Amino acid sequence: MLACITGAAGFIGSHLCDRLLQDGWEVVGVDNLATGDRRNLRDAEASARFRFVEADVAQPWDAWGEQLEGAQRPQLVLHFASPASPVHYERLALETLAVNAAGTMHAVAFATRNAATLLYASTSESYGDALEHPQRETYWGHVNPVGMRSCYDESKRYGEAYVTTAVRKLGIDGRVARIFNTYGPRMDPADGRVIPNFCVAALRGRALTVYGDGSQTRSFCFVDDLVDGIVRFATRAGLGGRVINLGNPDEYTVRRLAEVTARLARVDLRIEARPLPADDPVRRRPDISLARELLGWEPWTTLETGLERTLDYFRSAASS
Ligand SMILES: NC(=O)c1ccc[n+]([C@@H]2O[C@H](COP(=O)([O-])OP(=O)(O)OC[C@H]3O[C@@H](n4cnc5c(N)ncnc54)[C@H](O)[C@@H]3O)[C@@H](O)[C@H]2O)c1
Repeated sequence: MLACITGAAGFIGSHLCDRLLQDGWEVVGVDNLATGDRRNLRDAEASARFRFVEADVAQPWDAWGEQLEGAQRPQLVLHFASPASPVHYERLALETLAVNAAGTMHAVAFATRNAATLLYASTSESYGDALEHPQRETYWGHVNPVGMRSCYDESKRYGEAYVTTAVRKLGIDGRVARIFNTYGPRMDPADGRVIPNFCVAALRGRALTVYGDGSQTRSFCFVDDLVDGIVRFATRAGLGGRVINLGNPDEYTVRRLAEVTARLARVDLRIEARPLPADDPVRRRPDISLARELLGWEPWTTLETGLERTLDYFRSAASS
């Protein structure tokens, strides 16, 4: 069984590689290292069942794709390549649009040729600054189509439209996971997201910066839990055409997250309030009824446990 994972050198992609290798799959990981790091693949590359291809998946896949298909047909395509944090997608705005538009079109064509299941990594950002709370898959979203985040939000919405249209028109087995904030080891410490920011600041004994008054909420899913949900969604029969939220429904204010991080890192909590970034959603929480029903899945890692493991990772990354 062969799986092709785009964005393999990234935070989630590398954990997916490890998990599928553990489950006995052969894995081809594709990445152009735009925001990822080959060091995330150290464990995967120790396996003889893993191969790495350095390529931009927004460009035609012929050169490496045909070679791959010639040797063995992949059964699973997991399209995770895309800058994912505001810092990265604002810097790589046109590339983000390209990887979710052209990249998704190439992923669909590749999956179609190989009669493979395709799972597309979409995002809770598809819901934008949601007017419905918690967000169910049936909610259409509230997105600024021309704002700073639109290169991400709208390209993910296009990717969703492309995959679900391909299911209808081409009969492919395409699935869309709407992933909510995920955290854990291998996050880029400089990607500007709240958990790495807090962990890195706390480990350096610095104040934790909270935007606004810290009352905005987020749900944080530990990466191992998320990867388990993705594997269930990608490998269960009969879920073609489905769009499913994957995330942790436990809602924390950003202020509470700062308090827990400071306590675990044993630093004093000093909060500096800064203005909220543009289009920053105020509340975000998944309704995971569908994932519970169809996948028998829900996250199990507590925020404390997940944060401890993330802090351990940042501590050891800083000293290596
Ligand atoms: N981390 C989260 O909380 C979260 C939430 C919702 C959705 N997602 C989605 O999950 C996926 C992975 O996110 P992540 O947090 O691991 O981000 P990441 O930046 O760590 O990983 C993305 C990977 O994609 C690669 N990549 C980007 N453009 C590429 C291209 N054109 N060709 C080949 N490789 C390319 C990058 O180099 C990187 O290794 C993304 O699609 C993201 O939108 C993540």
